[in-house]
Amino acid sequence: SVFSLPEAVGLDSDRSDEENGEMDWDNLGFALTPTDYMYVMKCSRDGYFTHGKLNRYGNIELSPSAGVLNYGQGLFEGLKAYRRAKGAGFLLFRPEENAKRMQVGAERMCMPAPSVDQFTHAVEQTVLANKRWVPPSGKGSLYIRPLLIGSGAILGLAPAPEYTFLVYAAPVGTYFKEGMAPINLLIERETHRATPGGTGGVKTIANYAPVLQAQMRAKSKGFSDVLYLDSVNKRYLEEASSCNLFIVKGGVISTPYTNGTILPGITRKSIIELARNNGYQVSERLVSIDDLREADEVFCTGTAVVVSPVSSITYQGHRYRYRTGEETVSKKLYEALTSIQMGLVEDKLGWIV
Ligand code: COI
Repeated sequence: SVFSLPEAVGLDSDRSDEENGEMDWDNLGFALTPTDYMYVMKCSRDGYFTHGKLNRYGNIELSPSAGVLNYGQGLFEGLKAYRRAKGAGFLLFRPEENAKRMQVGAERMCMPAPSVDQFTHAVEQTVLANKRWVPPSGKGSLYIRPLLIGSGAILGLAPAPEYTFLVYAAPVGTYFKEGMAPINLLIERETHRATPGGTGGVKTIANYAPVLQAQMRAKSKGFSDVLYLDSVNKRYLEEASSCNLFIVKGGVISTPYTNGTILPGITRKSIIELARNNGYQVSERLVSIDDLREADEVFCTGTAVVVSPVSSITYQGHRYRYRTGEETVSKKLYEALTSIQMGLVEDKLGWIV
């Protein structure tokens, strides 16, 4: 085995089993609460990750010349662990999908990636080591953040000579400050999230800082997030800064197809499958601003946002409003998805680890 160090066993005073009296489980948002342990595994130029181990959660040391700091050679993932409602144990949702997406992104960013087994093992160890931080069932989840970074020092523009795979975790509740309430989005016209041939289709860290400016502008006007248009025609919807987009018209669900500028979300893919299994027609296609104007319902999907209903979208000063509430398609899909993720129904699709 490549895992040579003691992992969840023999952890420092085994705090992982302690009661967690410090937390206010009823008021979890999406803020960073530092937890106890993180998983770290390194790889040199040979491409093989070995000696993964759990360390105390804390700062890491990097050369000022690290590839990730100078040239943005980095990827991240996001997934969640839920505490079982009944009985012991924790539930992970499709972790192998995150592992595979990291491998695709690593190829694009010229980085070696951990195997699917290494990735899943690291995630499991991180959850077990931090189990006192997994919220009680129904109160939230443990958000798990795997990182893959060019940690080796390099001066000229080239792939870093060493890579670090790191997994940390934090308890979270709802992503948007609105909580479970519908969100309001603003269509961004000045900047774009991704361009054809760029990196919009992989989860590189380099896709996220460039959306902050528009996000800040939108937030200062009271919007929850920004919706991006394609950079060529400026007519087709791509995604929000942190999640994918779906529309519903006459009971038919549509979502922008992934062509390299849109992140292939695991929640996006799962919602498409669940919707089809529940008898909905789902179309992956170009979704234009005109489609959006005529839609009955709009919702966003992502690991962090889960399924978030959208109550309005503003474009060039016009506010388009959408149906929200109990009788919506998004509400049905939210219930279907989260009841699998939280272990409330049988996992017929084999999505839970
Ligand atoms: C996630 O949903 O896990 C993401 O990575 C989005 C992030 C901006 C919070």
